[in-house]
Amino acid sequence: MKITGETKIVGILGYPVAHSLSPLMHNAAFAALGLNWAYIPLPVEPERVEKVTPALRTFNFMGANVTVPHKQAIMRYMDEIDPVAREIGAVNTIAVRDGRMLGFNTDADGFLQSLLETGFSPRGARCLVLGAGGAARAVVFSLAKAGARAISIFNRTVERAAFLVDDISSVYADIRFSCELLSPQTLDAANNSFDLVVNTTSLGMFPQVDASPWDDGIPLPEAVICDLVYTPIQTKFLQQAASQGLPTVDGTGMLIYQGAKAFEIWTGEPAPVAVLRQTLLSVLKTGKQFSD
Ligand code: ATR
Repeated sequence: MKITGETKIVGILGYPVAHSLSPLMHNAAFAALGLNWAYIPLPVEPERVEKVTPALRTFNFMGANVTVPHKQAIMRYMDEIDPVAREIGAVNTIAVRDGRMLGFNTDADGFLQSLLETGFSPRGARCLVLGAGGAARAVVFSLAKAGARAISIFNRTVERAAFLVDDISSVYADIRFSCELLSPQTLDAANNSFDLVVNTTSLGMFPQVDASPWDDGIPLPEAVICDLVYTPIQTKFLQQAASQGLPTVDGTGMLIYQGAKAFEIWTGEPAPVAVLRQTLLSVLKTGKQFSD
């Protein structure tokens, strides 16, 4: 890749961003399409977030991804927020157009695409979401938008799950929502009442690879089992599912498709998904710790 006077710049805003895989994925995609674009890390301390949009404007950035801890905080600096991002309450992608900051959220669509590609459609499905943090919000809104019949949220801090249910049930009145404490008792009781189970907690992520949100000895429901954690790709949770012969969806798909959708928002070109995937998998194979 050659940086020239005409190179268009995007990047990832977060803190820290040193472990992000997005620069590798996007730069590989730009190179594959012969686009004179570059994607750079943009570490921004939390207390400096208000300086982000003037800087992007000043330096003529084409846009940026936004990651932890700025996804909510950045919203008030947007000139326009896409309805999906507004519903979720988080922006993970900014496009700068004519100096205006447009906020999007590609996590929800990225998650949905990763499910659809495995042949699973959430339409009419009974879904169990483990966790109620930022990632859970994107997952729950995407399942609701895709026509899920019922969504249960189990979380260690049950108030946080209740807050999410409160938020979403006002938008999707026809869907049955519930929340519970994430505990062996509730997991045991969940047996066979779900078509999809999604782990959005960080349990099982490197270096705690022996952790799982699902206690050993409790059978998983006869459902599609999905984990957003992708370090490692085969988490303990997915291994538990595989040992029961259940179909699994790993966390790489969501990372790939949220990136692909951001790429398309910025460039207007279809993203080379195979290149994104190949780049991601080749890095993850090294076994080091990375984040989005
Ligand atoms: P993210 O943006 O990745 O979703 P987050 O907003 O910090 O990150 O949310 C992390 C999720 O993992 C939360 O649901 C959290 O539960 P709490 O709301 O109770 O904090 C869950 N989580 C993290 N560590 C956990 C643990 N050891 N046991 C159970 N749940 C855990």
